[in-house]
Amino acid sequence: MRNIVIAIDGPAGTGKSVTGKLLASKLGIQYIDSGAYYRAITYLSIINHIKLNEINKINEIARNLKLNFDGENIMLNNVNISKEMRSLEVSNRVSLLAKIKPLREIITEKLRHYKENGSLVMDGKDIGTVVFPDADFKFFFTSDINVRAARRQQDLVDYGYRVQIDKIVNEINKRDEIDMTREDSPLQKATDAIEVDTTFMIIEEQVDLLYKTILQSVNLEDIKK
Ligand code: DC
Repeated sequence: MRNIVIAIDGPAGTGKSVTGKLLASKLGIQYIDSGAYYRAITYLSIINHIKLNEINKINEIARNLKLNFDGENIMLNNVNISKEMRSLEVSNRVSLLAKIKPLREIITEKLRHYKENGSLVMDGKDIGTVVFPDADFKFFFTSDINVRAARRQQDLVDYGYRVQIDKIVNEINKRDEIDMTREDSPLQKATDAIEVDTTFMIIEEQVDLLYKTILQSVNLEDIKK
């Protein structure tokens, strides 16, 4: 038995988190949404009126941050911040904050600790490249921009936000640009990652594809829970 790490990277709206969550529950292992860390810090910086150039204060928030993943909910000190974290205000700011190198180091350190608790599925932008370069399985999701925006719009509806599609396309395009061009750990496919284009796939197919790929080289009984 051993801890295995499954990394799912890719831009927003490609279906990483829903796939990751279902895959993890099918394998009986933990699922970690790494973007939740960047979003939670962004949310806290907004409500505490901290500016983007107040790097020490932002790093301080990051160092003290403790998130708990409780099923669908992301809990910060026992408060459910799942909805607040996904507001357009947070989405529009999060990539700017995610460019801060020392902040990325603090979060990366926290993310690596999850491996001590057992096998895991983690989704994000730099999981297969930086957080777990030795991950046992690496997937990189892509999708057509209009499909991504429509999925994002539905996610937002589920959280009680109504946002026009053109605003979402705009937000995603801007975020992609910043995430892919930032100096430190930009969003990119690890050379050894398997690319999965989810444009025409349904969630069950995505989960199935990853599940079967994993079970081709690992026995279920060998995966430490
Ligand atoms: O996965 P998400 O859309 O919730 O991520 C929000 C932002 O957080 C993303 O646009 C950039 C940042 N992020 C990151 O830089 N590295 C990660 N591993 C995860 C997220």
